[in-house]
Amino acid sequence: MQVSVVVPTYNESATVVELLRRVDAAVGGPRTEVVVVDDSTDGTADLAREVGSTLRSDVVVIHRDQPTGGLSGAVVAGLRAARGAQCAVMDADLQHPPEDLPRLLAALDDADVAVASRYTAGGGADGLSSWLRHGVSRVTTLVTRAMFPTRLRACTDPMTGFFALDRSRVDLAELRPKGFKILLEILVRRRRSVAEVPFTFGPRRAGTSKASLRQGLWFLWQLVDLRFGRMSGFALIGALGAVANVLLVSVLVALGMPFLPAAVIAAEVTMVGNFVLQEKFVFGDLVAGAESVRRRFLKSFAFNNVESAIRISLAWWLVSHGVLHSAIATAVTLAVAFVARFVFHALVVYRP
Ligand code: GDD
Ligand code: MN
Repeated sequence: MQVSVVVPTYNESATVVELLRRVDAAVGGPRTEVVVVDDSTDGTADLAREVGSTLRSDVVVIHRDQPTGGLSGAVVAGLRAARGAQCAVMDADLQHPPEDLPRLLAALDDADVAVASRYTAGGGADGLSSWLRHGVSRVTTLVTRAMFPTRLRACTDPMTGFFALDRSRVDLAELRPKGFKILLEILVRRRRSVAEVPFTFGPRRAGTSKASLRQGLWFLWQLVDLRFGRMSGFALIGALGAVANVLLVSVLVALGMPFLPAAVIAAEVTMVGNFVLQEKFVFGDLVAGAESVRRRFLKSFAFNNVESAIRISLAWWLVSHGVLHSAIATAVTLAVAFVARFVFHALVVYRP
């Protein structure tokens, strides 16, 4: 198999048939396959299989009953299943013209990754539905390129969903897909050579976009995570927990509860909240290989309780013996506890 075209679909029954026909006309043949990774509930998969059987290319439909990783997860699943030496990725709603595929694949001759860019000379983003999306797309592209100045130097459109890669040169095992922007992760994890071809992002022909505020938040999370790694996500959640803790104590005290029980309740509630967020955002990729969620919770909860008891007594001892000023004692013990907590969670709670 020479070429695989990976197409993620989420309720695209209105366009998938035309898309597959046009892909087949553009690059189809006995050495081409189209891998449709479908998370739909509207019969897209059946339509794809049906039209697939009439085409020259081999159409493989993977329907996922329990989708993970959103759009990025679907793309990576498609790339893993793909048999072609060269793999292209494109949307199913005809915003990415299939007729551009030959140029895109040809650009792989001298690069690891070929990017169809809206923002290089000759390209266009006409299809972004409003001035707001235009603005958001432009600004996030600039900020993202500024955060990864070397890795993204050669790429004007790291958020495009239309690209191709040479499978022998991109290791899929190291990707941890989340959200909408898988190309960004591919370009940032490792230094890659990039070739760009301009293309015009057309208007959506039918159906509705799955972009949302939620996807936007996932994107911000992805940026922080790619830039600063797992530990920063852990720190961010810890900081959120500290703020929640303070608020909760104030509320309980205002409601008439004495300080000590209020502080204990707030601390325990925060630990549970932190655990839930950590499971999803920081260690989500390790959950599958680790122990049961019950055992993970018990270990995490026990550690955090022991940790805070030691931390508070130690800080109290340091202050009452005049070793450190109370603010410094708190800061130092918190910093040490943060590292200890991270190490314990990464190596013990989520050990594979
Ligand atoms: N399998 C699967 N699972 N497919 C999905 C999912 C999902 O959870 N969410 C979206 N898709 C598919 C859609 O069916 C479509 O084929 C493609 O991914 C893009 O989704 P749209 O909903 O059309 O997104 P968009 O037009 O707002 O975003 C596009 O433009 C961005 C750049 O502005 C996409 O191409 C993005 O990849 C691109 O970054
Ligand atoms: Mn679209």
